[in-house]
Amino acid sequence: MPGAVEEFLRYDSPICMATTRFTTEPVDVGGVEIPQDELVLLSLGAANRDPARFQDPDRLILDRRDAGHLAFGGGIHRCLGALLGKLETEIALTALLTRFPGTTLACQERDLRWRNTMMLRGLEALPLTLRR
Ligand code: HEM
Repeated sequence: MPGAVEEFLRYDSPICMATTRFTTEPVDVGGVEIPQDELVLLSLGAANRDPARFQDPDRLILDRRDAGHLAFGGGIHRCLGALLGKLETEIALTALLTRFPGTTLACQERDLRWRNTMMLRGLEALPLTLRR
């Protein structure tokens, strides 16, 4: 489960965009120079699907070996609640799947709606049928 949670975070990063940054000096990112005093939006979701970093990035691989996603950001502003967030998810998913191992989606996959926001990626609702 811990590995699966890491892969869920990489594959569908709940916080797609980090908070805005401003350059205080010119910065070179992958050969592109960003001038001083620019507003910069960092797409953590895109970084987590970078084919130069992850093998077969658009596939959900629960026992992925190339770990190390940016779903919690990085550097001095890395998420303070990362360990808590992962632990809560592990506990909740383990409890759900242990109690209701036959759980299935209660709607067509195409009817799932994603929240219309740039920052917090998530479903508006996840209808499930719980089966023991
Ligand atoms: C799965 C759940 C979570 C995800 C995906 C997540 C993601 C993130 C990300 C990406 C950042 C960095 C934003 C940036 O650099 O602009 C961040 C920062 C932060 N997170 Fe979380 N977070 C989660 C849960 C939590 C929880 C449970 C707490 C507190 C109990 C928390 C507290 C914080 C704080 C205080 C910061 C700011 C750190 C700083 O700026 O120095 N997060 N989070």
